[in-house]
Amino acid sequence: MTAATNDPGSATRTTTEWAKLAVSHPVASPTSPTRDPATGRVTLVGAGPGDAGLLTIRGLRALEAADVIVADRLGARGVLDGLAAEGVELRAEVVDVGKLPGHHAVPQDAINALLVTLARDGKRVVRLKGGDPFIFGRGGEEVAFCRDAGVDVDVVPGITSAISVPAIAGIPLTHRGLATTFTVVTGHDQIQSLGGGRDHTVVLLMGIGTLANSAITLARGERGGDCPVAIIEDGYGPRQRVTVGTLSTIALQAARRGIRSPAVVVVGDVVTLSPYAPAALDASGTAAAGAR
Ligand SMILES: C[S@@+](CC[C@H](N)C(=O)[O-])C[C@H]1O[C@@H](n2cnc3c(N)ncnc32)[C@H](O)[C@@H]1O
Repeated sequence: MTAATNDPGSATRTTTEWAKLAVSHPVASPTSPTRDPATGRVTLVGAGPGDAGLLTIRGLRALEAADVIVADRLGARGVLDGLAAEGVELRAEVVDVGKLPGHHAVPQDAINALLVTLARDGKRVVRLKGGDPFIFGRGGEEVAFCRDAGVDVDVVPGITSAISVPAIAGIPLTHRGLATTFTVVTGHDQIQSLGGGRDHTVVLLMGIGTLANSAITLARGERGGDCPVAIIEDGYGPRQRVTVGTLSTIALQAARRGIRSPAVVVVGDVVTLSPYAPAALDASGTAAAGAR
């Protein structure tokens, strides 16, 4: 992926070169004479879970107005491809800073510096991020970095995968009589404990690597081993797949089925509402593991 700037060599610059360029440009003070406050600015846009239909209208308007789009891979790439497939032509150059197979993602420091460099160059920059920028997305850090550098920045919220991915499997996070609260937690770090029963829905993002440990931890409390669990892989994507089981069975099911990221894990009685849930898996506690 390449991106354009004022300089002639920019059209063929790779993401890595862009990242190096950004790092090699020390961030000047807010009064830097290179800053063009008239046009240069950064807008963080939440892309949603990857389906162009779930981008907000405000997000689309920002993309249409952008000179440069600095895009993540997860969610953001799917939206850009989906818009192109629908005939929406964006004039902006796209800088892909997401992780590609065999390549390292551009480090966060380099992304921050790139945003500031481009905005100071007078560009209208959209930072397109999967889901919502403020849910496990480091959006707050990017906003703070831009503000500290004196760059105008605003945020267009997106539809987080924490809610939209369960929805595609027919799972509401709250439901009268079944669940009155929910918690969204990262599985990136091992969860130590999480109180509540089956009426307290737990949503795990980045939870596949630590699934076995999370299931054991959650089963230890009020929820118990029979508590229903659903895993939705690649929601809205070509590999979308739903697996339903219980806290006792889910780790083995995941291993057998080769479940991979990105995936959202939902724990609680609301899972029984999914059309993917086997009839034997009910909210009364009788559970039979199943997967489709
Ligand atoms: C770094 S977090 C970013 C979350 C994002 N900011 C949001 O609001 O959805 C990435 C995690 O989100 C989840 N995720 C994002 N998009 C997904 C999708 N389309 N299908 C399944 N899981 C997804 C996965 O758990 C993935 O590991």
